[in-house]
Amino acid sequence: MEKPTLQRENWGSRLGFIMAAAGSAIGLGNIWRFPYLAGSNGGSAFIIIYLGFVFFICLSIMLAELAIGRRSGLAAVGAYKSSSDNWTFAGVLGVLSAFFIMGFYPVVGGWALAYVFKSFTGLLAAPAALGDVFGGFITNPVQPLMWMAVFLIANVVIVAKGVSGGIEKACKILMPALFGILVIIAIKGLTLPGSSAGLAFLFKPDWSLVTGQTFLAALGQAFFSLSLGMGCMITYGSYLKKNENLPGSAFIITAMDTSAAILAGLAMFPALFAFGMEPAAGPGLVFVVVPAIFAEFGGAGVIFSAIFFVALVFAALTSSVSLLEVVVAYLMDQKKMERKKSVYISSAVMVVLCVLASLSLGVMSGVTLLGVGAFDFFDILTDKIFLTIGGLLLAVFVGWFVKKEDLRDELTNGGAVQFGLFELWYNLIKYVIPVAIGIIAFMGIKSITQTGLMIFGLLIIVVMAIFSKKL
Ligand code: PFF
Repeated sequence: MEKPTLQRENWGSRLGFIMAAAGSAIGLGNIWRFPYLAGSNGGSAFIIIYLGFVFFICLSIMLAELAIGRRSGLAAVGAYKSSSDNWTFAGVLGVLSAFFIMGFYPVVGGWALAYVFKSFTGLLAAPAALGDVFGGFITNPVQPLMWMAVFLIANVVIVAKGVSGGIEKACKILMPALFGILVIIAIKGLTLPGSSAGLAFLFKPDWSLVTGQTFLAALGQAFFSLSLGMGCMITYGSYLKKNENLPGSAFIITAMDTSAAILAGLAMFPALFAFGMEPAAGPGLVFVVVPAIFAEFGGAGVIFSAIFFVALVFAALTSSVSLLEVVVAYLMDQKKMERKKSVYISSAVMVVLCVLASLSLGVMSGVTLLGVGAFDFFDILTDKIFLTIGGLLLAVFVGWFVKKEDLRDELTNGGAVQFGLFELWYNLIKYVIPVAIGIIAFMGIKSITQTGLMIFGLLIIVVMAIFSKKL
């Protein structure tokens, strides 16, 4: 059993931990990705399937991740490794996922940052040109890189300050601000004439649009949105004090993340329908359709647009710091590296990935690997393959390789807190969830159109399972 050598950092308070974990969960996934996925997968049918996955699969996984993180007092790799070297690869897969997500996440974070400033410099003046403005901006070889760099530097500064002094402090301010901004914009959207069509789109399901792909998209999104399947909640759990109530915390974090996604939907779709726009706008939804909505608001639109993108930057930042922390905590735990050095080294690698991802949308669009550019490569590999398989491995590990009594002990703080649903949770993790994820992952991964990429992703996992014992 491996034990941390240095005194482990802790969250300063329960509120601080919840804000940081909810900050990790609530991110671009909620505000940028959830609305466009819902929009292009038929609206409410997708949302219902998504909610089913969140509460029947992901909530249990979140609890399992927090439990093994706190129990081992180690981040992703160490938590698995402390049980058996054979499981090291599952943790390494998580660290690799964090790297790959950090290969495109700061690029989008940079776009959001740029749009805060663009809101003030005439972005809304020509609504018809918004699509071209966005296309021109993200394909520019220089501008998005500069914004991405600023965004990444903010991450470095926060994570270098440590768990309670950096991440927790930032999240305690940024998260309430984010919710406040989303509520203001949702209220504004809901009071527009004609907004009820947007509500119907969000809450009246059309099942004819559902396919096997819808299920994989919803499951992948649920994992991504709740920061699961890659060791992030294991890492955050490892900084938890022994007297913190895990089931209660997992529920609050999940509920906050889900509310933020629905709130983002409410902020966007009613207004979108009120102005007769297209819900299936894809990844450009937030950057093209939302400013177009604000352009209709008259003079106040500039302010709304700027605060909306500030919210998006906040959401992205509190998530990307958690991704960086997964890698940093690995280097600190397993390689005994000092925090600042770990931050600098890992972010240096991330810069390279981000530059490739950003350029792959413009000047390097001709350069593809296994049929896709770098941006899509990182996105598809993590969202469609690594996170779901990571979640599957975690459920199998916790259900079959950790003693039931140890889990009961961890989840009830040695009997000090009640967790009446323990048996239900345990059976879900041991039997139901592995089978459910297995089926969805099998059906979904099989139908990924980029076959080469799919085989490559699976191959990485197999190769790691064989070679990563020593990492
Ligand atoms: N949950 C974040 C979002 O919804 O944007 C993204 C993310 C953060 C995924 C941390 C995974 C992770 F470990």
